[in-house]
Amino acid sequence: MQQLIRGRVLDFHADPHETEDNHRYLEDGAILIKDGLIVAVDDYAKLAAPGIPEIDHRPHLILPGFIDTHIHFPQVQVIGSWGAQLLDWLNTYTFPEEARFSQQGHAPAMAGAFLDLLTSHGTTTAVAFCSVHPESAEALFDAAQARNMAMVAGKVMMDRNAPEGVLDTPQSGYDDSKALIEKWHGRGRQRYAITPRFAITSTPEQLDIAGQLVREYPDCHIQTHLSENLDEIAYTLSLYPKARDYLDIYETHGLLSDKLLLGHSIHLEEREIRRMAETGSRAVFCPTSNLFLGSGLFDEAGLRAAGVVNGIATDVGGGTSYSMLQTLNEGYKILQLRGQKLHPFAAFHWATRGNAVALGMEDTIGTLAPGSHADLVVLDARATPAMDLRMQRAETLAEELFILQILGDDRSIAQTYVAGQAMKAA
Ligand code: GUN
Ligand code: ZN
Repeated sequence: MQQLIRGRVLDFHADPHETEDNHRYLEDGAILIKDGLIVAVDDYAKLAAPGIPEIDHRPHLILPGFIDTHIHFPQVQVIGSWGAQLLDWLNTYTFPEEARFSQQGHAPAMAGAFLDLLTSHGTTTAVAFCSVHPESAEALFDAAQARNMAMVAGKVMMDRNAPEGVLDTPQSGYDDSKALIEKWHGRGRQRYAITPRFAITSTPEQLDIAGQLVREYPDCHIQTHLSENLDEIAYTLSLYPKARDYLDIYETHGLLSDKLLLGHSIHLEEREIRRMAETGSRAVFCPTSNLFLGSGLFDEAGLRAAGVVNGIATDVGGGTSYSMLQTLNEGYKILQLRGQKLHPFAAFHWATRGNAVALGMEDTIGTLAPGSHADLVVLDARATPAMDLRMQRAETLAEELFILQILGDDRSIAQTYVAGQAMKAA
C-alpha cells in the first residue's frame, strides 16, 4: 500500500556541529511511503501521481519521529513526585512503584498507556528500562510489536540495596534476560538492551553475569546509569573500593562499547571521559530529570570535544515530561548555565538523527532517507495562542524550530506516524 504525505519536510543528514550542509528542507514537500517504509522524499509536484492516496499536513512541518534514548517504563505513575534527590527518590517513590509490576495485568495496562503517551508526544522510538520483572519487558515488547513501533528495552537487573519485591539474583537476572533476548531481540522492530540498573543495585557477581550476556549477545544494546548525583557516586565508590572511578566498575565487568548508553554522565573524571571516547560508550543527557532531581549540569560541549557521542532523553519518571520538545527546552537552559548554546538545528538533529546515531540505528530511523521506516512527527508551531503570537514575528525556519523547542509540547504534535500508520485520530 502506497501513500503520499505532504507538508513542509525537514530532515538532517549530518550533524550541524560538524558541517553547514546538514539538513534538507522542502517548502512544499512530500514523503512517498510503501508498506511502512520511505520510498522517496521530494517536492510534492514531483511525487504526486494519480491513484496514490494523499494526506496534506501543510502548513505544518514533517520531521522524522523523535527518539528518546533513556526512559523508565514502570515510572509512568512516579513522574512528578515531590521533594527528593536521586537516592531518596528511588527509595521513597520509585522502588515501591516498580514493585507493582509483578501484579497480574498491571504491566500490560501500563504498556499501552506508555506507548500512547510516547506517540502523542511525537516519540516513535524509545530506549526503555523496564522493571525487574520479566513480565514488564514482555508487556512492553508485546504492545510495541502490535503497533509496529521500534523499542529498545530490557528488564532491569538489580540484586541488592532495594526492597525484596524489586530484586532478582545473578542467576535469575541472567536467565530472564536471556529468555527475553531469545524471544524479542530482532523480532519485528524490537531490540533488547541488557540493563544492569546501576552499580549500587548490582553485586559484582551480577555485573559479571551482565558482562557474560554482553559477550554472548554483542548485537544487543546495554543501558545503565553513570555519575548522576554526588551522593550516588560516593556510595557507589564505597561499594566498589577497588574501582579507579565509577566508569571503571562497568569497564572491569566488560560493559564498555559503542552499544553502551550511560544515562546522565554528569560528574565525570578526565579518565572516564577519555575511556568513554576510546570505547565509543555513549553519554545520555536527561535535562528535565537533572533539574528536577537537582543532579547537576551536563557538559555537552566538553564531552563532544573529547569525542564522546551524546544522546538526549526524557528520563521519565525522574524526568518531568514525555516531550522531546520540552526536553530540548530544558536542555537549552542547562547549556546556558554552562555557557554553551544549543542551536535549534542542532537541537532537532539531536532528537532525531543524533539519537539514531547514538544508537547506531541511523540506517532505519532518525532520517527520511529511502529505506528508513516511515516514523514521522508533524509539528504545528502555532498550536497555542502564545505560540501563534510569537510566530507572527518569526521569519526563518530556525526561529520556527526554536519556538517549537521552547514553547512546544504535545499540543504541537499534529500527528505521529509509526511505520506509516497515523497514531492520532485525524
Ligand atoms: N539511577 C538508578 N535508577 C534510576 C532511575 O530509575 N532514575 C534515575 N534518574 N536514575 C537512576
Ligand atoms: Zn534513568
